[in-house]
Amino acid sequence: MQKILDQISEKMMAAFESAGYDAKLGKVTLSNRPDLCEFQCNGAMAGAKQYHKAPLMIAQDVAQKLTDSEVFGEVNAVAPGFLNLKIREDFLKAYLNEMEQSEKFGLTMPEHPRKIILDYGGPNVAKPLHVGHLRSAIIGESIKRICRYAGHEVIGDIHLGDWGLQMGLIITELRVRQPELIYFDDDYTGDYPKEAPFTISELEEIYPTASAKSKEDEAYKAEAMEATFKLQSGVRGYRALWQHIINVSVADLKKNYENLDVTFDLWKGESDVHDMIPAMVEQMKRDGFAYESEGAWVVDVKEETDTKEMPPCMILKSDGASLYNTTDLATIQDRMASYHPDMLIYLTDKRQDLYFEQVFRCARKTGLVKPQTQLVHIGFGTMNGKDGKPFKTREGGVMRLENLIREINEEMIRKIHDNAQTKGYQVDDVEAQETARVVGLAAIKYGDLSNQASKDYIFDIDRFTSFEGDTGPYILYTIVRIKSILNKYEEQDGKLTSTVINEARNPAEKALMLELTKFHGMMELAFEETAPHRICAYIYDLANAFNRFYHETKILTEEDADRKAGWIALLKLTREVLEACIDLLGFTAPERM
Ligand code: ARG
Repeated sequence: MQKILDQISEKMMAAFESAGYDAKLGKVTLSNRPDLCEFQCNGAMAGAKQYHKAPLMIAQDVAQKLTDSEVFGEVNAVAPGFLNLKIREDFLKAYLNEMEQSEKFGLTMPEHPRKIILDYGGPNVAKPLHVGHLRSAIIGESIKRICRYAGHEVIGDIHLGDWGLQMGLIITELRVRQPELIYFDDDYTGDYPKEAPFTISELEEIYPTASAKSKEDEAYKAEAMEATFKLQSGVRGYRALWQHIINVSVADLKKNYENLDVTFDLWKGESDVHDMIPAMVEQMKRDGFAYESEGAWVVDVKEETDTKEMPPCMILKSDGASLYNTTDLATIQDRMASYHPDMLIYLTDKRQDLYFEQVFRCARKTGLVKPQTQLVHIGFGTMNGKDGKPFKTREGGVMRLENLIREINEEMIRKIHDNAQTKGYQVDDVEAQETARVVGLAAIKYGDLSNQASKDYIFDIDRFTSFEGDTGPYILYTIVRIKSILNKYEEQDGKLTSTVINEARNPAEKALMLELTKFHGMMELAFEETAPHRICAYIYDLANAFNRFYHETKILTEEDADRKAGWIALLKLTREVLEACIDLLGFTAPERM
């Protein structure tokens, strides 16, 4: 269905036209002064010059044409020439009932859906997931859902870091500890064991140990580089060992992402494009894009209009080894060939801004993508502790994701028990734990997504888990409140399906209805700007509008059955919109909390 602002702008444009003015002046916007009006039109001000007329006179002419409008209940021409507008209750009622009956509340679907590959998560195999990877997963999952809801096709790829020096380091450390392993026997030609010679906890300890050793011990580092090289050149035992590392690590990653309700369509990694690299580099050399510089191979990506330093994109190191750049370029080539996307979106820390700029320019220049292919990097800010520095554990180490989730859940359980006690009902531990899982996830995700992604934010467990204010638990609390009213209505033998929204009778009710109509415009922006924070801001306003209405209205004890049914229908739509929105943010609501 047509957005409310477009629908009412159309009427306003017709009024400008019939009053003898340019229709284009009739664009309606949300009101800057909600105390005075619901919508406004500033076209008369813009038209003053063109028509050599006082804006107020133009506004009055237009207002005259709208005296018995089917859309506007009030049209006030006020000095110096604004048109202050209120819309009619019957129009609003019809709009909302149409929303209720339409799929996705009547959101317009694109004529030409786009195919988007979303690169997010980006964990590194065998390194523990830490809070730095949390943002990529949370924001990426939400963007994936937003783009799909907006009618586009999205393929989410985790793009594992599974091919670099860290693999050589782990193999080297394993060799030090268990030199007798069959994988290190160059003469062995049989099958390798199916069982990995290590567990995930061993693996997680091995990498930091190896990494620390390599920083102090040159020979050890050289060995790790040698092991990386052997792995990349396909030595059987090393490949087999590497496969075990991937399997053990990926099983653990899947568990972690499942806990976050984050899913990927593809579990590809840097290693998947390894075999494509030589031909890609050859082509870049042959086409004259790549040239030798101090032994390395690079592609210039500077442009005349650059105001900042733009170093060349290095595609091969002087020892012939490939880099993070090289795998990303080859991955672009692979994605174009396998999926033909119209758009590639990457989600990483904003410290990789320059890096992606180089990669994108190189991909365009060397023809890896089509001129119309959109390449987008969304660089997000850092999650800081209360001290304003990157979030750490109490001991000052890097916070592991599992521990972070555990801390949030413990705080959530405490708040759930507190809340039950004040409300005078019982929750058993099993229920409290399940609720804490659901609400805790909302606390983390909303705490992150309600900020504009590029900004740093402060991770504040106490604030994020609060049932009041601009938080995930507050939104869920509102949904739970609506669910409980709807359940009680059904217990009183009311039928939810046969209710219809009525005309608003008081300001709080109308305010809630107007808030609901903003859904379509908000969703368009959330998609265009790939901005989950738009959804958060919207549902916070919507929840506030609902709670104001709720506190002013005795819904379940209302005697007039038709009036009551109308309110129930309004609650039902509010709940559906809120639930659709939290689903786009990547979390759900419990039955009670
Ligand atoms: N593994 C990388 C890291 O931990 C992130 C990968 C992002 N995606 C990409 N295509 N480069 O920093």
